[in-house]
Amino acid sequence: MSERGKIIVLEGAYSSGKTTQARMLHHEMCMREVGSDMSMSPVLVREPGGTQLGERVRSLLLEDGVLRCSKSDLMLFCAARAQLIENIVRPAVESGRDVVMDRYWLSSVVYQGVLGGCGQWRAMSACRLAGLVGDLVGDLLIYLDVDSGEQRLRTAARPDGHRFHRYEPGDVIQAYEIALASFSRYAPEFASGMAALRRVRASGTPDEVHARVLATYDEWRRTVSTTDD
Ligand code: TYD
Repeated sequence: MSERGKIIVLEGAYSSGKTTQARMLHHEMCMREVGSDMSMSPVLVREPGGTQLGERVRSLLLEDGVLRCSKSDLMLFCAARAQLIENIVRPAVESGRDVVMDRYWLSSVVYQGVLGGCGQWRAMSACRLAGLVGDLVGDLLIYLDVDSGEQRLRTAARPDGHRFHRYEPGDVIQAYEIALASFSRYAPEFASGMAALRRVRASGTPDEVHARVLATYDEWRRTVSTTDD
């Protein structure tokens, strides 16, 4: 039986550079596999999205003028997540492929749980219903730590502006801090396979941040291989 694949999650407030960093990390991981079996190369997914249902949920969430409360948002994000876990994440890790994720359950805890008022515990419970159990919770969670001044500048420079961002940049960063402070408390309750958490400073050019992300990933991978030996 092949060794189980690992789940690496990139999280952070919008304009922290997650999507760019998830792509760069995934690219580097693929490059390291060149020459081996391509069907085993790492998978890259984004949330919400990654499946037909997930992409439709994404479009729905992007639509202006559709009245939704935080609880219905939580259900929508979790519906997309359930399908993603079922169709992509679980089969990939079970077959030994690594998965790089652009956002995952922590986004629901932050956006719907803390900012939307659903509560962190309720958000985690909804994620669990979506199939987030055991080692599907993730192996490495990289939090891109962006400073609110820099985040504001980056957001203003984005052509898509705030899109479906409902909250102030500073409030999102604060909500991440609240959720991260609870991080170790989730573990016994929700999953034995809780991800290792690492913070990475998100200031600088994409290449500079990528170098930090990669160093963090490599350091963690060494820890894992020592534990697995
Ligand atoms: P997206 O367009 O992917 O941009 P970015 O990741 O760069 O912010 O936006 C995803 C939005 O969806 C973002 O505002 C956070 C929100 N979101 C939630 O509110 N809950 C969730 O569970 C997830 C996955 C995302």
